[in-house]
Amino acid sequence: MSDKKATLTYDGKTIELDSLTGTENETGLDITKLRAETGLITLDPAYGNTGSCTSDITFIDGGKGILRYRGYAIEELCEKSDFLETAFLVLYGHLPNSEEKETFKTGVNDAAGMPSDIIGHLNAFPKDAPPMATLSSLISVLAAHNTDDLGVAYEGESFTKPLYTIMAQVLELAAGQYRVNIGKTPNTYNPELSYAANFMHLMFSEPGQPYEVLPAVEKAMDLFLILHADHEQNCSTSTVRIVGSSQSNLFSSVSAGIGALWGPLHGGANCEVIKMLNSIYNDGIAPSDFVAKAKDKSTGVKLMGFGHRVYKNFDPRAKVLKVQVDNVLEALNIDDPLMGIAKELEEMARSDSYFVDRNLYPNVDFYSGILLKALNIPIDMFTVLFAIGRIPGWIANYRELHTQGQRIGRPRQIYTGSALRDYVDLENR
Ligand code: CMC
Repeated sequence: MSDKKATLTYDGKTIELDSLTGTENETGLDITKLRAETGLITLDPAYGNTGSCTSDITFIDGGKGILRYRGYAIEELCEKSDFLETAFLVLYGHLPNSEEKETFKTGVNDAAGMPSDIIGHLNAFPKDAPPMATLSSLISVLAAHNTDDLGVAYEGESFTKPLYTIMAQVLELAAGQYRVNIGKTPNTYNPELSYAANFMHLMFSEPGQPYEVLPAVEKAMDLFLILHADHEQNCSTSTVRIVGSSQSNLFSSVSAGIGALWGPLHGGANCEVIKMLNSIYNDGIAPSDFVAKAKDKSTGVKLMGFGHRVYKNFDPRAKVLKVQVDNVLEALNIDDPLMGIAKELEEMARSDSYFVDRNLYPNVDFYSGILLKALNIPIDMFTVLFAIGRIPGWIANYRELHTQGQRIGRPRQIYTGSALRDYVDLENR
């Protein structure tokens, strides 16, 4: 709590509101007593100006384009860390020592091996089912197979067991569903491989023909996952926190997060960007015409992969990705015309007053699709990869919520419907 207070006068009554200042000097007014003292609530649709919690996990300065996990700059983590180490950091707040790092990796490896009758579930979905639908369902199915792990926990084995299960088996479930849908048998998790390489192996190894994960591919996938590991109180993380706040289990909370991430305004944007670039390329649309359409509200078209609720400057994840995509395309000797179109769109938007005045910059999804496409990931699985990367962040927030002992999430509303009226019998309506 800070010494500074705000005063609010309403209808002749004045009250004092405490303020709270975070590590990086962001300040919020504490309105928890507002209703009790005045009968008022605050109204902030879409929570654009509402802090729902305090958190030690991730810091974003949207004006300066800064993203840090537990105080470490995203750029440095991308350069020096790996996904499992970053996951540990996000979850527990410190970089693991070598013993902690090994224990964490072994925990994830040992939890691999999805229940054998889950194959029945994989087969039961329509072969063209959206992968985010199946993944969200399958994480819920894990709850049905792990009924001893449905309590609320934030430490000890009661926490690590479902944590490791989700982290290992999400790879097997996502890749297994893909393989079943194309008439192939799911592959078996390989504890010798890194987390990123395991995903590629689970997707693409064939019987007697293990998929060779090139270092550039492994690095790119690892970096993609690090970049997505957490992003403070976004739509899906807030969903996980609110579901978790009812003391629902970790599986159902993560499953709900996957549902929230699926939407095209959130994680689903990475698919939409590639679809947009493909249509510009295939239909021979001039990028300038597309930009003009995106500026014209009557078209309902947006420049997907642009804009962000919090970043009013470059999304630092997009900066890292842009360089990485260039490296990967070069290492794999791929000449993707979509990269040229993306750069052209970015250049145009960056010098167009519509985008400049609204602070619309490329976000993480603008270049990530081109990267995943270069790694042969099917377009409809791009958001699945986002979800896999975001799992440590969701679980860290679930854990933090319970360490803080936060009560059940329950926003208020201003009711604007009819006042009390009499029931009308059917024949008189
Ligand atoms: N193309 C054209 N205009 C845009 C765009 C865009 N991509 N994004 C925002 N605008 C306009 C918007 O119409 C509004 O204009 P006006 O002030 O004239 O009404 C202004 O910019 C402010 O936008 P907003 O809709 O109030 O911003 P928001 O904070 O509610 O939404 C957003 C943020 C990310 C949903 C939005 O920018 C968007 O839809 N972008 C495209 C989808 C996308 O790339 N989503 C991925 C986000 S990053 C991944 C993640 O973490 O989820």
